[in-house]
This record gives sequence, structure tokens and C-alpha cells, in this order.
Amino acid sequence: MSKARISASVYSSHVPAIGAALDLGKSSEPYWQPVFAGYEFSKQWIKENPPDVILLIFNDHATAFSLDMIPTFAIGTAASFTPADEGWGPRPVPVVQGHPELAAHIAQSVIQQDFDLTIVNKMDVDHGLTVPLSLMFGQPLQWPCPVIPFAVNVVQYPVPSGQRCLNLGQALRRAVESFDKPLNVQIWGTGGMSHQLQGPRAGLINKVFDNAFLDRLIADPAGQATVPHIDYVREAGSEGIELVMWLIARGAMSDVAGGKAPEVLHRFYHVPASNTAVGHLILENPL
Ligand code: DHB
Ligand code: FE
Repeated sequence: MSKARISASVYSSHVPAIGAALDLGKSSEPYWQPVFAGYEFSKQWIKENPPDVILLIFNDHATAFSLDMIPTFAIGTAASFTPADEGWGPRPVPVVQGHPELAAHIAQSVIQQDFDLTIVNKMDVDHGLTVPLSLMFGQPLQWPCPVIPFAVNVVQYPVPSGQRCLNLGQALRRAVESFDKPLNVQIWGTGGMSHQLQGPRAGLINKVFDNAFLDRLIADPAGQATVPHIDYVREAGSEGIELVMWLIARGAMSDVAGGKAPEVLHRFYHVPASNTAVGHLILENPL
């Protein structure tokens, strides 16, 4: 193997209260135990299959960005990213080490494939990025590998379509596969599942929608990519639109470009966690 390769995709919700439960030592309490139990397989699996780099698709929640500036797609090219202060002080988690060389290559390749990325050389990362890391790696003193943050605007409309997200995933796969070092890269899609945090429908959860989304994301990503935003918002709540980011990671899997179907290594769904349904998947590309 002389080029980099995407070995697997990991999908996970990023509920901030999960981070708080871990940070405050509450993960074995009865409310949280079933949530963390759903990640036991995953923690073991990633220990046995450690990636060299994670390309982590997430959304910033008006933390690094604001209404002053709203990049649709932004890649973090810095050497490190500090956990953000979201109002209660930064989470007590390690600083995220980036991979400037691969990130710069991805920016070059993906922009040449006609996706307009914003290049971010300084960015604090919020729960959208750190909570999935905590769920997969627990509470290490250092994160075990570099992480390239890739932020998607799903907070302020207009947000990118499912189709554009799937296509971007394909461009990201081509970018990784043209990098001249034999890196084992995982791509993570985060956010979701159904939830709505404000207004008369606050607290909305839709198990039927969420499970149909997981089924179709696995078996028919091209079909799922045609689902318009309004369906996510109507069925999965205003913050359910975060799920569109999962299509970026799914689009980076080999089968979307005519390769073999991925293997479903793990699938987990649990309600409730805070105001949110928790969903989690691991898909592996066959060698
Ligand atoms: C909650 C979920 C989110 O995705 C988020 O960004 C903030 C809060 C919640 O369930 O409380
Ligand atoms: Fe969120």
C-alpha cells in the first residue's frame, strides 16, 4: 500500500450532555449506562484497528463561526485545534492534533474537483467534534491519532443538499486515495439523529424516521441523498438536519464509486440522551 486509503466510516451523534456525563464521571449512572454500552464494541474495535488519521465531518454550533461568517464547507489545516469554551469552560479533553500535510492535500484535490472549501488555519472545536472522539476513545491523556476537522454548515439556511454531501464524500475519497503516503484513514460522519431544541416541537424524536435513515444510509445512499431538507426538518426536527453530514462520510465509501458494499460492523440506536436520539454505525470497506 503506497497511497492513503479510507478503511472505514464511523457515524455518531454528538449530544453535548454525553460529553458532560463523561467529564463529570456520570457515565455509569442508570440514565447514561445504556448510551455508553452502545459504544463498547466500537472502543474495542478502534483499539484493534487504529486509524493513522481521522477525517472528522462535524458541525460547529456558532462557536468558531457565527452569523458574521458562514462557510458551507471548511477544512481545518492547522497543526492543532483547541477544545472550545461553549459557556462552561472548555471540556477537559486533549488538544486535537491536526494533519496539516494531508489536510492541505485534501484542500488542493477537492477544490480542483470543483468543491469550494474554506481553509481554516485557526479554529476551536466544539462538542460537535469532541463528543464523538470521547465516545470512541474514552478519556485518554492524548487523542491516539491526528484528526482533520471538516466543518459543515447545518445551522443557518441555506445548508448543503444531501446530493452535494454525497458527491463531496466521493471527492474526499479521491483526495485521500491520491495522497502519496500509506495512511489508514477513517472518515467520520457526526451529528443527528432526530432532535429539535426549540419552539413548540422541542423534544421531538422520531424512531421510525431514524431507523429508516440508518437502513437507507447503509443500503441505498444514492436514494437517501435525494431526500430534501424539508423532509429531515419535518420528520426529524430542526436539528435533525445534522444527519445530512452522514452522507459525506457515506459518499467516501468504495461502493458509491462502484466498489464492493461495506460491511456493517456495528449498529446502535438509543433514546433518549438529553433531547436527542443517539445513533451510531461503523461501516468497513472490504480490502
Ligand atoms: C443537543 C443536541 C445537539 O446536537 C446539540 O448540538 C446541542 C444539544 C441536546 O440533545 O441537548
Ligand atoms: Fe448539534
